Amino acid sequence: MTTTPSVDSGDRSHALAPIESVAQISSALRDTDPTLDPRLAAKARQAAADGVVLLRNDGVLPFGERTVAVFGRVQLDWFAVGYGSGGDVKVPYVWNLLAGLRDAGVRVDDALADRYASWTAANRPEISTEWGRWPHHFAEMPVEATVAEAAAERAEVAVVVLGRAAGEARDSLLEPGSYFLAAEETELLDRVTAAFERTVVVIDAGNVMDLGWLDRYGDRIAGLLYAWQGGMEGARAVAGVLAGEIAPSGRLTDTIATRYDDYPSAENFGDAEVTVYAEDIFVGYRYFETFAPERVLFPFGFGLGYAEFEERVVDASVTADRVEVIVEVANVGTRHPGRQTVQLYVAKPGRALAQPARELAGFAKTSLLAPGDRERVTITVELAELASYDDAGSTGHRNCWVLEAGEYDFLMGTDVRRATSAASVTLDDLRVVRRVQEAAAVDPRTPFRKMTAARDGEGRVRVAWEDAPTSTVDRRARVLSDPLRLVPPTGDRGIRLDAVAAGTATLDDFIAQLTIDELADLARGDVIMDSPLGTPGNAGVLGGVSASLRAKGVLPVTTADGPSGIRLSAYASLLPSGTALASTWDPELVRELAELHGREMVRKGAHVLLGPGMNLHRNPLCGRNFEYFSEDPLITGRLATAVVAGLQSQGVAACPKHFAANNQEESRTLNDSRVSERALRELYLRGFEICVREARPLAMMTSYNKVNGVWSHYHRDLVTTILREEWGFEGCVMTDWWMESAVDPDFPALEDNAYRVRAQVDVLMPGGVKDEGGRQSYVDRTIQDSVAREGGLSLEELQRGARNVLRLVLALAPVITARA
Ligand code: BGC
Repeated sequence: MTTTPSVDSGDRSHALAPIESVAQISSALRDTDPTLDPRLAAKARQAAADGVVLLRNDGVLPFGERTVAVFGRVQLDWFAVGYGSGGDVKVPYVWNLLAGLRDAGVRVDDALADRYASWTAANRPEISTEWGRWPHHFAEMPVEATVAEAAAERAEVAVVVLGRAAGEARDSLLEPGSYFLAAEETELLDRVTAAFERTVVVIDAGNVMDLGWLDRYGDRIAGLLYAWQGGMEGARAVAGVLAGEIAPSGRLTDTIATRYDDYPSAENFGDAEVTVYAEDIFVGYRYFETFAPERVLFPFGFGLGYAEFEERVVDASVTADRVEVIVEVANVGTRHPGRQTVQLYVAKPGRALAQPARELAGFAKTSLLAPGDRERVTITVELAELASYDDAGSTGHRNCWVLEAGEYDFLMGTDVRRATSAASVTLDDLRVVRRVQEAAAVDPRTPFRKMTAARDGEGRVRVAWEDAPTSTVDRRARVLSDPLRLVPPTGDRGIRLDAVAAGTATLDDFIAQLTIDELADLARGDVIMDSPLGTPGNAGVLGGVSASLRAKGVLPVTTADGPSGIRLSAYASLLPSGTALASTWDPELVRELAELHGREMVRKGAHVLLGPGMNLHRNPLCGRNFEYFSEDPLITGRLATAVVAGLQSQGVAACPKHFAANNQEESRTLNDSRVSERALRELYLRGFEICVREARPLAMMTSYNKVNGVWSHYHRDLVTTILREEWGFEGCVMTDWWMESAVDPDFPALEDNAYRVRAQVDVLMPGGVKDEGGRQSYVDRTIQDSVAREGGLSLEELQRGARNVLRLVLALAPVITARA
């Protein structure tokens, strides 16, 4: 049996020694050329700036000619990205906020700045070298009241910079210094707001943190800006916004609640073994707008600019299949340019199926409008895209995507709360939009109650609970009914993969020649990270991992993390994190950035980017939220589509991850995400579906966790029934790094890799390892043994997996060979 080391054992080659700041936890220094494409840096700065969300401004911003006293060590020790594989890029430089402000011409109080410079130089942050033990915040410089008062003599405005980081294997914690303010930060805010009439707070974080303390300072906090983690150019982008060089235009892609306990997932987060998604479809604003609008500090979609806008619906047309709303946006201010984001929400009739009060249905962002300018944007929504999934049969159409009869109200606004009715359409009869197979539903052995909406005696909507529908599928029968096709083996006929690329042979001609060993080799990576077959510092190599495959022209494919840059030994650009990108609400800009990112991949020799990260922000504490986009699946899907399309336009591959329901880092390799099929399909899979259908990613990574009792890397329903059969995915599916050992409960002759290949999870990454006297080597023969066994893996299945892998190799061959 394969030894499958747990990735959180601390014994990982990607737990490399950190240096100094988070952004510089990087791989061995083997590439000494720090020159990067200045166009990529410029685009990254633009994206980081457009993702900055201004949450409060009494007119204090932009700073203009005012002198500014900057407090908080994070002005120098800027968190450019979160921890772990997602941002571990060898980046040649990272801007800090102080340097950015000076660069943007802001007058800063030099005396205070000098104090911070010497204190931070003498008190370097302690960053543990142990994987997953990184600090959530850095100890703050104590500021006596006299220091704040003296600064207030020299400067008119104060800035307090707060910083947070979380990451892979490192959830945020409900503790001071993580989700909550540290005592020393409260003290800092107390002193600064006592000395200054107006303080601007800048939050440099990958996760939403508690903002309940805002009230305590009243209007002395004159400005508040959520900067997210914008990569190497992020701090400079924030400085540009504060200075007024760049107009802020970011909008929240998450709800900021009054308190942590208000989040509907609060009670079901962080358990080591089981996470019950009891809130069901009521994630984020879907919950708050329906049941608890008063528990929101800043609603989904919210963000301010410097300009003043007016939006007006100039036309709304409704047909049987489509709604089109044209909105005119006017910059009616006199001083500042800006961009506005128009959002369209839908309120669906909740008859047999409970529905959230509002759901995002579409959005559009204007270009930069000068004072007096106006622009029309059009938002088109296909009604079919709004269908809900009936997993209980309550509409009479079990396992169908349906539009229930009734009124669909479309609300236009600049955040979810402020949207008002712009158009409506009434369906007289229920429409079945698509009929599918039940898949990945709740295991009947582990039932649970889930949230739904009901009306009380006075007609008010309130939380109610009902049983989650459980699975009725005979998985064994489903697997046995798979249409499999045998390619009769021919032995070696001298056909190389190049011939398939050139069109002189078919892929089947090629596959017919492969031995069982060669087919099994295609189902694994080259075992170690930083494989010698790939570009130095790679995350793993797949494809041509054996001499005999390479002799047949199968090229080794280099994978690299992602998503916020390229994690190799070479220098690369550190780009804005997923949340920062999503907060731009600008898929076109993100696509342009991804194109340049793809070009950098070609130059650096990375063929598959392990990203974008596409899991939902189900809970504000999830460590990898910075890599992911939003609590909403539509914005997740649209932004991921932009990333994938941009990268793949350069000939490289994207590998969206983690498929699916990887919504916490605590015990991520063991945790079972128990979720109704409806919530799975409408929320957790929806972003992936949009991305697969629209951008056709060439690869996909499964998650570590289980989904309704089955590890994703064995999950045939997820990967075959839904991803491939329903959505038409034709690419290569790989595991997240290593996997857990298991025997297929329906087919005991299949274990580990054989079980996985049957599910069409094609490649074990970075490969199976066995420790032989301290040396890691690949000696696993589970696949070969299973093929030889009665009732084991079939040759057809092995060939099918090989086909999926070789399609990826063929698609990448032009970039691989061009560089070589
Ligand atoms: C992470 C993946 C990453 C992989 C390779 C895993 O631990 O979950 O997101 O791509 O390592 O570094």
